[in-house]
Amino acid sequence: VLLVLCCGGGAATLVWFLARPPLDKKADFRHALRVPPLAASTVRDGKRVFELQARPGDSDLGHGTATRTWGYNGAYLGPTLRAARGEQVVVDVRNALPEPTTVHWHGMHLPAAVDGGPHRPIPVGGSYRAAWTVDQPAATLWYHPHPGERTETQVYRGLAGMFIVDDDEPAQRALPHDYGVDDVPVMVQDRVFDGDQLSMSDRFGSSIGVLGDELLVNGTPGPYLDVRSELVRLRLLNASTARIYNFQFADKRQFALVGTDGGLLERPYATDHIRLSVGERAEVVVSVRPGERATLRSVKSLGGDLDAKLNGGQDAFDVLQLRAAASLTPATLPGTLVATPRLDPASAAQTRSFTFQGREINGRKMDMHRNDAVVVKDTVEVWDVANGHDTPHSFHIHDVQFQVLAVDGGAPPPELGGWKDTLFMAPKQRYRIIARFADYADPDTPYMFHCHVLRHEDEGMMGQFIVVEKP
Ligand code: C2O
Ligand code: CU
Repeated sequence: VLLVLCCGGGAATLVWFLARPPLDKKADFRHALRVPPLAASTVRDGKRVFELQARPGDSDLGHGTATRTWGYNGAYLGPTLRAARGEQVVVDVRNALPEPTTVHWHGMHLPAAVDGGPHRPIPVGGSYRAAWTVDQPAATLWYHPHPGERTETQVYRGLAGMFIVDDDEPAQRALPHDYGVDDVPVMVQDRVFDGDQLSMSDRFGSSIGVLGDELLVNGTPGPYLDVRSELVRLRLLNASTARIYNFQFADKRQFALVGTDGGLLERPYATDHIRLSVGERAEVVVSVRPGERATLRSVKSLGGDLDAKLNGGQDAFDVLQLRAAASLTPATLPGTLVATPRLDPASAAQTRSFTFQGREINGRKMDMHRNDAVVVKDTVEVWDVANGHDTPHSFHIHDVQFQVLAVDGGAPPPELGGWKDTLFMAPKQRYRIIARFADYADPDTPYMFHCHVLRHEDEGMMGQFIVVEKP
């Protein structure tokens, strides 16, 4: 109590930190990792057509009985959509939920009118068609609801899925690419159970939203994955609502980071850990030895004093056990991946600054009727985004992939060397990013940028920008 009185906000975190010992959750690895099925599609008039139905269902998430969940085309999560660069894609979405929803294509470059933000609600019983041409490098993207004020609840109940974009880069063929075999989605979510029922009770009283004490990967509790080749590619996605992970193997082995949110890196980067805040993705390639078991964990120790400052960041979890077969198909990691031309800050038409603090951006909460930025189509902009807070946020912008120019004035670390659409914002740090706002102008429909901690987003930590034709 004294701490709260004398130190204000920072102390609230500290008091929370002292309130319970950090979790260190071990898993029994009794369930084969569920791999989301690839979504069926039909090709009509040269367009690849998918159908998604958002609906309630019942799932056993590890407690031996069914609990009510929501999913796309199933009871929990959704199928993996997959399309190649250059393809025309149509997704027909039907809403069989008891409340309005939207579907947002996180990381996708597409017109604002089909971006699936809060301006395009799908009413109960209604449907919605999104159509666009995929035009960006191969990447691990995802889709989830974005209805405004209900995003945390809807994602928590199970509405999320992966969207894999393919292209012709030779590196894609050189990397493991057999879906569900040596190229595997790993969607990580923390959840709270009240007895055997999924619950949103804020057990840990955290200001960043629900922090679960149980982990699900693709909806699987305590999962293992049988591996039959020397290299396995994991498409890691933090599909949680608030929790930040720091992935590392129990034996601290090195693995190769090959891709970030928007595509492959120029070359693999060897590391023993990768941190993902809410919404971020990482493609990693792990090498295994015959017969071994390798345990992927999320560990404490985010560095410096961050652990103490991160709500829940000090918790540790078993994530996934890799079980290598006695004999493994040989595989080698390519030395180079894809060329990534750097955007030049000297070419920027605009520089903007956004400070994330409280539940506001530049002191303002989300307003559906206010545009916070007007961007001219086909121009490059530099954005300075700062976390003015003593707790972390997760910066996300729609439509574009950006490059990180600087972190607190210094060169970005190698894991931020590729295309990004979501960025961990450490307390009190500033990030300089650069993006080109190509192709799509629409003065009437804004895109969003926001904190991807979903409770923060729901509480108004979101802004809007429109892209307009050159005057
Ligand atoms: Cu993944 Cu605006 O969201
Ligand atoms: Cu936030």
